[in-house]
Amino acid sequence: MSRSRRKLPPADLVVVANRLPVDKVVEDDGSVSFRRSPGGLVSALMPVMKANEGAWIGWPGGTGDDDQLDPFVDDGLQLVPVSLTEDEYAEFYEGFSNATLWPLYHDLVAKPEFHREWWESYVRVNRRFAERAAGVAAENAVVWVQDYQLQLVPQMLRELRPDLRIGFYLHIPFPPGELFSQLPWRRQLLEGLLGADLVGFQRPGAAQNFVRLVRQRVGHRTQRDQVFMPDGRTVTAKAFPISIDVEVFDTLARSEGVERRAAEIRSAVGDNRTIFLGVDRLDYTKGIYARLRAFSELVAEGELRVEDCVFVQVATPSRERVEQYRLMRDDIDRLVGRVNGDHALIGRPAISYLHSSYPQEEMAALYRACDIMVVTPFRDGMNLVAKEYVACRLDETGSLVLSEFAGAAAELRQAYLVNPYDIDGMKAQMLAAYHADEREQRRRMRAMRKTVAEHDVARWASSFLSALDGPEDGVA
Ligand code: G6P
Repeated sequence: MSRSRRKLPPADLVVVANRLPVDKVVEDDGSVSFRRSPGGLVSALMPVMKANEGAWIGWPGGTGDDDQLDPFVDDGLQLVPVSLTEDEYAEFYEGFSNATLWPLYHDLVAKPEFHREWWESYVRVNRRFAERAAGVAAENAVVWVQDYQLQLVPQMLRELRPDLRIGFYLHIPFPPGELFSQLPWRRQLLEGLLGADLVGFQRPGAAQNFVRLVRQRVGHRTQRDQVFMPDGRTVTAKAFPISIDVEVFDTLARSEGVERRAAEIRSAVGDNRTIFLGVDRLDYTKGIYARLRAFSELVAEGELRVEDCVFVQVATPSRERVEQYRLMRDDIDRLVGRVNGDHALIGRPAISYLHSSYPQEEMAALYRACDIMVVTPFRDGMNLVAKEYVACRLDETGSLVLSEFAGAAAELRQAYLVNPYDIDGMKAQMLAAYHADEREQRRRMRAMRKTVAEHDVARWASSFLSALDGPEDGVA
């Protein structure tokens, strides 16, 4: 990675996100370096960031009570790290972001906790991000703030820098008023978001929830997707469904290495076995337990035979110290142990459970190797795994079982749609996918591949930035 430290020029386009698009690597000698982490957001924004003196402000991961790390340039992109202390990691990140907002915004799948110290930490860290952005942005620059961890940044930043054009995008769902209104700090969050000129959501219903709440709780006049602010500004709230970098996955899936690896995976599980695949962050919103239960009941009832099929579940470790995550992990561990204890044959588990994260190449190989992808979240802003799977199905076979409550279901209509709370319904759709002949698979997959190819993440970024009236150069 090319890294250089120097006085950085003011940026015309600033992305503010909880995470920097890099992983911090601590070498044996204690020196710290950064490796670019792959992701749709960064690859979509790279061209436009490079063409516009772009800067990315974010947390590099980990904690340090030390001073702020210095900004640096990596491959033409200015990276501006914001560090978190141990306490802020516990209160801002694990606490308010992931044990208050995350469950509240995902339909109360788990019970949100409300703690005043967590809120104070959230305010403090949001202010730090806003101050960093104010210090980096050029006169009249465009600043694009990302996701639920930073909802106060737009208003804080506008107070510091009224010259800026500010956009905000929420990657997760935005709940209806009945749920959102539980939050003791509901008004402050709405006012935080209203600092932006454009507030983007995954789905039109989320934008409507927001506008209605602003009218009811803040009292501003609204009309359709617009909020009229007392200072004369107009804030627009609209849906911009996010996607993946289709070309990256297409190229990976076509590569010889991935083809070879997919064949290896197939022969390791048994060439004639049908592979059901789940790939998720290990999160209670993802519905992993219910889906494995549906599969295991099909095995127990003899509808599926372990000789003929296997469920491969990849669960990427996530937010491991948060209690709800620990409890869910234990539940899943127990279920997998019991199902394999009851049904596995020697060398042939019913569920092959991988609690680990893998590089994109391995994911592409798994997508190519599997027959039926099962994506069954209780609630999900979009779910990019479903789109990655579709992008990797070069031969147009394979089936997707998809939750109605994932944002992706609005676009991938040809999936086998399921209600993840309805175990019998899921079993029926998993079986329908299992028995689908090649013609049926192709009919569905071809249509989904067309949708994904036409709506990739570059299009998402350029439509948001042009609605914000920001720079467009360089976005394909
Ligand atoms: C979701 C959120 C992101 C978050 C990611 C990983 O996709 O929308 O903002 O970065 O999960 O979670 P983590 O807590 O590891 O950042």
